[in-house]
Amino acid sequence: MGSQEKKRFIAANWKMHSKPSEALALAFELTDGLEDTNTEVVICAPFTHLDRLNSLKSKGIILGAQNCHFADKGAYTGEISATMLSDLGCQYVIIGHSERRNLDTVESIPLRIEQAIAAGLKVIFCCGEPLHYRKVHQEWEFVLSQLNHDFDKIEASHFPKIVIAYEPIWAIGTGLTASPQQAQEMHKNIRKWAENRFGILDAMQLRILYGGSVKSSNSMELAAMHDIDGVLVGGASLIPIEFRGIIRAFS
Ligand code: PGA
Repeated sequence: MGSQEKKRFIAANWKMHSKPSEALALAFELTDGLEDTNTEVVICAPFTHLDRLNSLKSKGIILGAQNCHFADKGAYTGEISATMLSDLGCQYVIIGHSERRNLDTVESIPLRIEQAIAAGLKVIFCCGEPLHYRKVHQEWEFVLSQLNHDFDKIEASHFPKIVIAYEPIWAIGTGLTASPQQAQEMHKNIRKWAENRFGILDAMQLRILYGGSVKSSNSMELAAMHDIDGVLVGGASLIPIEFRGIIRAFS
C-alpha cells in the first residue's frame, strides 16, 4: 500500500461523453453510497457540464476539468482559461493527456501547468509512452523526457499542487492494461525522479496515478502496489457499477 498519510486519489475522465443535462445524475450514481471511503474522488467533466456539477461539493466529490489554455485571457476564440475553471468551482485540471498532446503543442504544456496553478487549481499531469517505446524497452527514457521537458521551469513550491498520472498510450481505451508490476516499476522511477528534482518530502507526498483501461476487475491488484496511489479512469468512469468498484478497491 502507498504511504498511509496520503489519501488515495480516484479521478474520472469523462472525455467527450454524456450530456450536460445528464451530468449530475450520473455523478451521483457513480459515487452513490461511497461518501465515507477516505479517498479523494475527482470528476473531470467536459467544460459544458461543470456549472451543473457545482453542487457535487456538498457530497465531498471534487470537480475537475480536462484541459485549460496556456494564456490567462485574450483573443483565443473557443478556448477556456484556468481562471474561468476556478471561478466555476473546479479544483483540478488534467494537463498533458495523450489525447490532447496530439492536438496541442508540447511547448504549451508547461505554460498550461503554470496558468492552472496561478489560478489556484491543482494539476493532474499525464505522461506515458507509445507502444513502440515499450517494445524496445525505452519506456522510462520516453517518460523521463516528458517529465524533464514539462517540469523544466516549474517552481519547486508549485510541485505539491501536482498529481502525476502515468498512462501508457497503448493501454488507453484499448482494454490492454500495464501489468501491476510494469506500472509499479514506472511509478517508482517517477517518484525517484521527483525526489531528485523536488526533494524527498515532496516526492513521498506525490500521488502517482495509473491510467489505461482501469476496471473494477483489475483495480485491486493495482491498488496493492506500493507506488500506485490511485487511478485515472476513462471508459469505466461512465459506468456506475464499475466506478464504484474501483473506488472500493482503493478504499
Ligand atoms: P481508459 O482511459 O480508462 O478508457 O483507458 C483512461 C484515460 O484516458 O485517462
